[in-house]
Amino acid sequence: MQDALRFITCGSVDDGKSTLIGRLLYESKQIFDDHLSELEHASGKYGTQGKELDLALLVDGLQAEREQGITIDVAYRFFSTDHRKFIVADTPGHEQYTRNMATGASTADLAVLLIDACKGVLPQTKRHSRIVSMIGVRHVVVAVNKMDRVSWDAATFNTIVAEYLTFIEGLSFDSVHAIPVSALTGENVAHRCVQTPWYKGPVLLEYLEQVDVSRKEEFHPFRMPVQYVNHPNSEFRGYCGSVAAGSIKAGDGIRVVPGGADAKVKSIVVWQGEQAVANTGDAVTLTLDKEVDVSRGQVLSSAEDPIQSSDQFEASVICLSEHHLMPGRPYFIKIHTAQVGVTITDIKYKLDINQGERLAAKVLELNDIAVVTLYTSHPVAFEPYTQAKLLGAFILIDRMTNETVGAGMIHFALRRASNVHWQAMDVNKASRALLKSQQPRCIWFTGLSGSGKSTIANLLEKRLYSENRHTVLLDGDNMRHGLCRDLGFTEADRVENIRRVSETAKLMVDAGLIVLVSFISPFREDRDYARSLFEPGEFIEVHVDADIEACESRDVKGLYAKARKGQIANFTGIDSPYEKPLSPDVVVDTVKFSPEECVQRVMDLIKSGAIQSDVEAAMFPCQAAQT
Ligand code: ADX
Repeated sequence: MQDALRFITCGSVDDGKSTLIGRLLYESKQIFDDHLSELEHASGKYGTQGKELDLALLVDGLQAEREQGITIDVAYRFFSTDHRKFIVADTPGHEQYTRNMATGASTADLAVLLIDACKGVLPQTKRHSRIVSMIGVRHVVVAVNKMDRVSWDAATFNTIVAEYLTFIEGLSFDSVHAIPVSALTGENVAHRCVQTPWYKGPVLLEYLEQVDVSRKEEFHPFRMPVQYVNHPNSEFRGYCGSVAAGSIKAGDGIRVVPGGADAKVKSIVVWQGEQAVANTGDAVTLTLDKEVDVSRGQVLSSAEDPIQSSDQFEASVICLSEHHLMPGRPYFIKIHTAQVGVTITDIKYKLDINQGERLAAKVLELNDIAVVTLYTSHPVAFEPYTQAKLLGAFILIDRMTNETVGAGMIHFALRRASNVHWQAMDVNKASRALLKSQQPRCIWFTGLSGSGKSTIANLLEKRLYSENRHTVLLDGDNMRHGLCRDLGFTEADRVENIRRVSETAKLMVDAGLIVLVSFISPFREDRDYARSLFEPGEFIEVHVDADIEACESRDVKGLYAKARKGQIANFTGIDSPYEKPLSPDVVVDTVKFSPEECVQRVMDLIKSGAIQSDVEAAMFPCQAAQT
């Protein structure tokens, strides 16, 4: 018997998808007798086929659940014949379920695409084809269904097939086979239809039993992402994982990627003992001939043909979240067993899955599919998705909620990235700071417009200046006249605004300065990203707290009045959110306290030494008393 065939069925409900799946289960005798009598009963009562069995009812129970919103997940159905086992991913076809279809397609070798003979190639047919092609499904069966309704007319079939073949010219399928069928009667599904002498190919079930979906390139070099390092005592150190590609035997050379250490495999341990060889799919523990530094997320790979690693990629991404995916916003990426920080650096284009056009986009919305560039916080080992799904597929995770917000496929690494190296300088932050006799810091003021950020930052800078400190003040309004001139106030633009000021502040801290940043910076995630750029103790988050009523009554710039009249859109606190810091280093309440008192609180915090960093303690033992 061949390996199991995993396939996905695409088509809207009316195309007969449920009936076809029901028919396949029925013909392969997967329906138990009690189900059958239930089905006979239900068909009489609810069925649409008169006295005949309505096979759609078999799978439409799920449909009803979906309509009630109970489950919109992918349903996997299993059946087998004497020749093969089958796993069918049954996914809803509507556009709002694109993500489910993408999930189903991600494990499929083949797609059965239903086209209603009476309707021909529909926008839906094209959308589904684009999705499965993008996810990497290489084989398609076009089941032209309801052929009985068009009297098994060869010309109708040929016209539909010709139109479909013209459409898919730009999509990368390895094989496409079309079959005229009637899911309702089972003709050309399981048994040959006498009315299609013009169709010489196999019937659907035969085709599915025989189709060869194995990859042509048989040889693939060894790759095993490390899941876990098993080091129970000083005697034993083993690297556990599943072989994602290729095979390995004791004595073979491996390279750890990223990292680059080489070693030889000493033994391959499985629960029953040791084995000579590990093949793709085996879950094993490898021991090595010498101690090398390996941790979860690195990939053990063939030393002769090691896996690549990079920190910049081009990839396809599908947005799985109600929240927009945004360039510049920090996420986590999980690829095989590795998890690191990541940002989308650019949305190259969004795909209009109905028309196939490339559209410009600033953010990605639920179900959007796009080609993007990604930048990871650390290099990761990978292979292009088309070469090894397990090593090229990834998900994007929200750092705050842990929600999976995107899924995607790596196309290739951006070479440019690996050719740009960090240039080590002889004069560094510590020496620059020493010259200025100060501890560089980033003091980050966040709060609503009108809360008093700029006033307090300005006063604090004057205080520091009078104490001979070297400072710079980055103010939201001012930066928006220069570096951030091109940005507005949408969520995506604010994310980019904060990213730019964070990076600027970091450069200035590296220059040895005390940097005061005064930006609304309404989103926690972006402020946390800013913090992540600095060393512990270097970043001080000051929440300038004043409620919206107080800010609105001050309305120094008259902007609240305009926003209330609808003359300014996306105004923070009115029609755009402000996320208060959950654990700021200091809160200053500008309703209760004067600006001078607020400044004093920040000075007190700095002087208390409570946030003195290790570097500072070593460099300036008296700093706490002086600053
Ligand atoms: S942030 O949200 O991206 O951090 P930033 O601090 O740069 O904002 O700019 C805020 C300043 O822009 C406000 O103080 C206000 O003067 C002005 N402004 C103009 N339009 C808006 C708006 N829609 N929302 C908030 N501030 C606005």
